[in-house]
Amino acid sequence: MIKIGIIGAGAVSEQHQLPGFQKCKGTQVTALADINKKRAEKLARRFGVRSVYADWKKMIQKEDLDAVSIATPNYLHCQMSVYASNRGRHVLVEKPMATSMSEARRMVQAARKNRRILMVEQTHRFHPQNQLAKRLIAQGKIGKVNTVKAKFGGPGPEYWSPEGKWFFSKDAFGGAMADIGIHSMDLIRYLTGKEVKEVFAYLGTLEKKIEVDDNGICLFQFADGTFGSMEASWTTKPQLMETILYGEKGTMAVKAWVDDLLTINLAGGKVLRPRIPRRSETGSPYEYFVHCIKTGEEPFISGEEGGKSLEVILAAYKSAATGRKVRLT
Ligand SMILES: NC(=O)c1ccc[n+]([C@@H]2O[C@H](COP(=O)([O-])OP(=O)(O)OC[C@H]3O[C@@H](n4cnc5c(N)ncnc54)[C@H](O)[C@@H]3O)[C@@H](O)[C@H]2O)c1
Repeated sequence: MIKIGIIGAGAVSEQHQLPGFQKCKGTQVTALADINKKRAEKLARRFGVRSVYADWKKMIQKEDLDAVSIATPNYLHCQMSVYASNRGRHVLVEKPMATSMSEARRMVQAARKNRRILMVEQTHRFHPQNQLAKRLIAQGKIGKVNTVKAKFGGPGPEYWSPEGKWFFSKDAFGGAMADIGIHSMDLIRYLTGKEVKEVFAYLGTLEKKIEVDDNGICLFQFADGTFGSMEASWTTKPQLMETILYGEKGTMAVKAWVDDLLTINLAGGKVLRPRIPRRSETGSPYEYFVHCIKTGEEPFISGEEGGKSLEVILAAYKSAATGRKVRLT
């Protein structure tokens, strides 16, 4: 039996993590920690979790856990991840994995040193239409991808987690680009297999009365000289997530979240709508994390990989603050 302890009993725990781990064979969430103990107790009752803690360190010290899943505000991920790795636990950490590259590196090093898995929960890599799109691009269906245009937008975190005020705090690494731009950028890197080398971004607070960005646009160039744009928005109604890839032989549009669609418009006028498999090739992020624990497989969304997507988003914040292009190392 794989035993999991979750830190954070908020929206993502309730809606994704607890139901997700419940579906994993031979796996049990045996402990839940949250400074809001009442909230954790309520979720524990609902999902049959045995132990509840207000202090996450105590949970890791006292419980016989194989893994810790971190579902707390972004600024807490690093300290929790490093602590859990150093106590021999595998770690699943929510996106964005950290608030800086030095934090991300510390998390990767702690997991490596202790020979434990560190996986970042970039959920969109697990959607069947995205996995199929990646396969078709790799097979050359639209030829070499020259440009990409992506947008991830919704009404904002107050509709997802009404109590999650930290989403609007600069210190907590809140903001639309950090929150959902990271999903879009990670998906772009996953689909194309390309690395970003340079970024220019505009970020702004266009509608909400908050101290962080509610909209942003990031222009980026890949290492091979091709380029694209990505928008993150907390003021888009209705919500959408769309990635359009323009290739030598045609255009591919991948939509998710609201409706799952994959359309390929080939140069000659032919339109393909490949059937989207019902199941993810890898299972859910939780099934895949458990699979990696059992087999020792390095997750395809490891700490290093999650760190590369984070680096682009951090570069976008730096570019917007300085008004300059930012080159990635
Ligand atoms: N992968 C996805 O698709 C996805 C979706 C939503 C959120 N997320 C990520 O999940 C994380 C949590 O988001 P959320 O929407 O659940 O936020 P939330 O505000 O709803 O929940 C966060 C929880 O963490 C608890 N917490 C705060 N400080 C703590 C501490 N020191 N110790 C223990 N618990 C503490 C809070 O009390 C709260 O219950 C964020 O990193 C977010 O970006 C990922």
